[in-house]
Amino acid sequence: MGILIPKSSRGVEMLLKAHAKINLLLDVSGIRPDGYHELITVMQSLLLGDDLLLEPAPEISLTVEGAELPGGPANLAWRAADLLRRRTGYRGGVAIRLNKRIPLAAGLAGGSADAAAVLRGLNKMWRLELGRGELSRLGAELGSDVPFCLGGGTALCRGRGELVTRLPALPAAGVLLVKPSFGVSTADVYRRYDAWPEISHPNSRRMLTAVATADLSAVAGSLGNKLEPVALAMHPEIGWIKEAVAAAGAAGVLMSGSGPTVFGLFPDQPSAVWAADRIKKDGHWVCATAFSAAYCPGSSGT
Ligand code: C5P
Repeated sequence: MGILIPKSSRGVEMLLKAHAKINLLLDVSGIRPDGYHELITVMQSLLLGDDLLLEPAPEISLTVEGAELPGGPANLAWRAADLLRRRTGYRGGVAIRLNKRIPLAAGLAGGSADAAAVLRGLNKMWRLELGRGELSRLGAELGSDVPFCLGGGTALCRGRGELVTRLPALPAAGVLLVKPSFGVSTADVYRRYDAWPEISHPNSRRMLTAVATADLSAVAGSLGNKLEPVALAMHPEIGWIKEAVAAAGAAGVLMSGSGPTVFGLFPDQPSAVWAADRIKKDGHWVCATAFSAAYCPGSSGT
């Protein structure tokens, strides 16, 4: 949750961390009438995250550092504040300062994490007292990953990704992330997936057992992503990165979400740092991080 900093004249500022996620497993079980895809996915949040500073203001504004991103309605963080204000009738605004660390169009839910942080933070700052279910429904209007990002940790997500069931926390594994210089459009990958010949399903039952028993090597052995072959065909570089991450000693390697970021699992963060130092950068973005726990470990999922 955010940290409240008292300010003498303008109320309080709030500092928030918006954590990135990876998909330990992503299975697509069908296409829905609304064009979205029916998913079974196990998501895990990471220590890597964007920083947000919220400050009471008469209107909604957003400034972004660390990335070439628009500050207005095209940004999911701005839209989250606007949606919350319209739905609750709150009269007032917020000045949002966003420091981007999560790369864009990377399969790491950077935009969704920012939107979720704004919803959580403003619910508190504006004293709206919306319940977890209400926040989650608003989040789902902004993006399929936003409801997961509201709680973080380890979770099973179904529907188009917005139906979140909290899973037991996994041991604090290290994670090496490698993203090629290009980004990938999620909608593009799903469109190509639709024209793809049948792809075998990853074993979600085995993954859920591995998570339930907190068995990290079984988790590493159960990684699977039905979108990976599609993205690999679009960008063979993803395959080369997978090979490099495996050669750096990862216990398991997979592309996250719709890509193109590849992650490797390590027993702890220092091992991931060690591997990051050894991997050939070739213009890629490389980051050693670790699993992050849920924001409110005691609370149940939606
Ligand atoms: O929900 P979100 O805005 O993150 O989704 C981005 C795009 O990804 C959607 O417009 C849709 O084309 C695709 N998508 C999908 N099925 C999902 C999630 C996303 O087809 N379950």
